[in-house]
Amino acid sequence: MKPRKVREGIYWVGAVDWDRRLFDSLIPLPDGTSYNAYLIRGSDKVALLDTVDPTMADVLMTQLESVPRVDYIVAHHAEQDHSGSIPQVLEKYEEAKVITTAKGKGMLMDLLPIPEGRFITVEDGETLSLGERTLEFIHTPWVHWPETMVTYVPEEHILFSCDFFGSHIATTDLYVTEEWRVYEAAKRYYAEIMMPFRKIIRRNLEKIEGYSIDLIAPSHGPIYNRPAFILDAYQDWVSEEPKNVVVVPYVSMHGSTQKMVEYLVSALAGRGVAVHQFDLAVADIGKLAIALVDAATVVIGTPTVHVGPHPLVVYAAHLVNILRPKLRFASVIGSYGWSTRAVEQTAGLIPDLKVEVLEPVLCRGVPREADFEALDHLAAIIAEKHGQLSLI
Ligand code: FEO
Repeated sequence: MKPRKVREGIYWVGAVDWDRRLFDSLIPLPDGTSYNAYLIRGSDKVALLDTVDPTMADVLMTQLESVPRVDYIVAHHAEQDHSGSIPQVLEKYEEAKVITTAKGKGMLMDLLPIPEGRFITVEDGETLSLGERTLEFIHTPWVHWPETMVTYVPEEHILFSCDFFGSHIATTDLYVTEEWRVYEAAKRYYAEIMMPFRKIIRRNLEKIEGYSIDLIAPSHGPIYNRPAFILDAYQDWVSEEPKNVVVVPYVSMHGSTQKMVEYLVSALAGRGVAVHQFDLAVADIGKLAIALVDAATVVIGTPTVHVGPHPLVVYAAHLVNILRPKLRFASVIGSYGWSTRAVEQTAGLIPDLKVEVLEPVLCRGVPREADFEALDHLAAIIAEKHGQLSLI
């Protein structure tokens, strides 16, 4: 794609990656992604804000063909999907300097062949004039690594936010046109990379509250020309108040655990509790992460494999543990053949969740009447607990 005008002298010069389906060899990208870089021309200096993933460096370099001079490359974040093409840009513009935080400089030197003399580090709140346009750097750690910052341009009321507020969507839309679509993609993105740091992200949101913002231009996905949409969504996601939601990730090998899950889900729904059920054999892990943003309770369903939980459950439980959602309650249900330690071993996989563990329901073989009664009891307890938190 060619450069696209955002404002007079401000251009999107990124790359759209329509076919990427996995990020960090972990995160599913059902809608592809984009790596947004922005060029800002002042009357004295020219700045490039972020670059693109090194796999698409040629796209960026083509966009820069008609740009004779770049004085500064602002590296908001050291991760290579934004920084990976900096060496090529520095090679083309021999006088250009990389502007980043002190932590960012160290990380960029660890990751990329950039000589120390090419860096200028900036403090929180520091400004840099391009002539008629100013870059104000605001340190915003953990969106998504500890070194991250964003840039505010006061003359245009634009916040360039890098990963913060980003969404993995490949699109030709420069601005958000379908908020519902971007909402889900942005929530997936938040859930997978920022949810564990929501306390710090709350502070970052407070920090930018005082700025007058007309546009939020992230480095993934379209630009927000109605910033309140994504700012309000983030306020909701980072709050510590869960919703009346139960998430049930499960695996079933011969149908018994499946029967238990279906019975529990129906019993919860009958008590007015919303449930998201995920068969881990086929589930999109990103959808599971999205559901965890709001959930008050997780019930893990597992058959017993060699005395412990199913390996897919081990993976999912570990993921839930490292994402540290705002869960308040957890339990385990499932079937076993002759012996099991699935409950103890599953509980051992989620040590970082500050949850009350509710009475598990394990059954030998196929579930029978007493097992369904136990599941009814578990559903009643969950509904009662949600009621005590005024979620229902
Ligand atoms: Fe889009 Fe954390 O990089």
